Amino acid sequence: MKEGRFHITWAGAHRVAYEETDSTNVRAAALSEEGAPHGTVVTAEMQSAGKGRRGRGWISPKGENLYFSILLRPEILPENAPMLTLVMALSVAEAIRRYTGEEACIKWPNDIVVNRKKVCGILTEMKVADGRAVHVITGVGVNLNMKEIPEEICQTAASLNIEGKESSEKEKLLEAILACYEKNYASFLKTGDLSELREEYEKILVNKGKDVRVLEPGNAYEARALGINEKGELLVEKTDGTKARIFAGEVSVRGIYDYV
Ligand code: BTN
Repeated sequence: MKEGRFHITWAGAHRVAYEETDSTNVRAAALSEEGAPHGTVVTAEMQSAGKGRRGRGWISPKGENLYFSILLRPEILPENAPMLTLVMALSVAEAIRRYTGEEACIKWPNDIVVNRKKVCGILTEMKVADGRAVHVITGVGVNLNMKEIPEEICQTAASLNIEGKESSEKEKLLEAILACYEKNYASFLKTGDLSELREEYEKILVNKGKDVRVLEPGNAYEARALGINEKGELLVEKTDGTKARIFAGEVSVRGIYDYV
């Protein structure tokens, strides 16, 4: 891990750390109800009920990995909240690149991959009232130092150390992520979308220019991934030459033969 100080002002200025908890996303939501401030960061050494996307779990053994959630109170419409997941994905990938030297890439929309295997997952959840986002919680799990990758995910998942790093310094990586996030979040707030971040995101988008299998509920098709638009939707060209925009929600994208 490279040495260095990180410029952080609001992200994680208020921190809550658990040795063990159910899920840092659940804790952040509870803290939000108690009035915790924008930027509150919740960490845990272990999660007994870590949450993944699409109702799946997130395997969260003790001490080995980084699990954290950030509580945001942005003045945005609910339909714009999914973009914050891509803002975090870019931030995590940048932080891993800068401070570990690993060539972290993004698998659209928000998986971080190293050597084509997933090392980080991101889950954004939101509370809405009167058509506005009351809070947005973005939870991040980075496989840092996982001694053994559980069998059910070993085809697609990896840990940063297993991919070649000797040591993992959780706190420094967290600070690196938060510093990158502050920078990228400011840009998101300025434009209200990803127009300033799109180029950087696409530079490390592992799907760009690749043939992918688009899995919509009840419909799967092959297409070529072209990049993203300013809303973070994946732009694809279908085999008949028509173009489509894919919104992350219910759709997932795989490689033709593999996870990436
Ligand atoms: C995915 O399925 O790829 C998303 C996984 C998100 C896991 C993180 S770990 C910290 C935070 N707390 C949770 O319960 N989930 C997220």
